[in-house]
Amino acid sequence: MELFNAIKERRAVKHYDKESPVSETDFKQIMSAVLLSPTSYNIQHWRFVRVTDPLLRDQIQEAAWGQTQITEAAELIILCADTQAWSDNPQRYWANTPEDVQAMMLPMLESFYNGKEQLQRDEAMRSCGMAAQTLMLSAKALGYDTCPMIGFDNEQVAKIIKLPEHHVISMIVTLGRAAKSANKRAGQLPLEEVLKENSF
Ligand SMILES: Cc1cc2nc3c(=O)[nH]c(=O)nc-3n(C[C@H](O)[C@H](O)[C@H](O)COP(=O)(O)O)c2cc1C
Repeated sequence: MELFNAIKERRAVKHYDKESPVSETDFKQIMSAVLLSPTSYNIQHWRFVRVTDPLLRDQIQEAAWGQTQITEAAELIILCADTQAWSDNPQRYWANTPEDVQAMMLPMLESFYNGKEQLQRDEAMRSCGMAAQTLMLSAKALGYDTCPMIGFDNEQVAKIIKLPEHHVISMIVTLGRAAKSANKRAGQLPLEEVLKENSF
């Protein structure tokens, strides 16, 4: 599907055909596209949990106040991030760059993130947002539907997936084939209201 059509056609789909799987080839293609999303310093601190265990899906659904898409969708991906990835062997983020570039980047990265908890968390959310949009548009391009979700008890879901220390959950994305289309768009704000020129 052409990009602008995928953007228009992507909607938050709440009801999925339980009998319609996402092929492994398509899943891999979508996730490979996700990995090409941008991150600051190419840090790639996202970590994705693909929940295939139906018992865990039930538990997550309970933590998400019963939202049906959690168990109906063929795939459920929890977008998480390692807030300490900046200090975890960072030279691998620039493995294909010359040594002098790596030597320059390392201290920059360190001084940018070290001790800045709010920034580390903000970055996690930014990067996962980028990844989520790539996931949803790639899925749409292959004829699938998605729903981004934050309607769940974060602490409970963290327990269910055994979220490690220094990791955060950004959102869940469900993926599958729609059983029911999304309702008409609820109402988009006009461009003039949200686009400012030079300053507010
Ligand atoms: C970060 C985020 C969290 C969301 N959480 C939920 C959710 O928990 N449950 C749900 O049904 N929809 C959720 N949505 C979907 C929004 O309601 C939907 O994207 C919005 O109404 C616009 O509709 P559209 O995506 O079909 O254009 C979420 C969307 C975003 C971006």
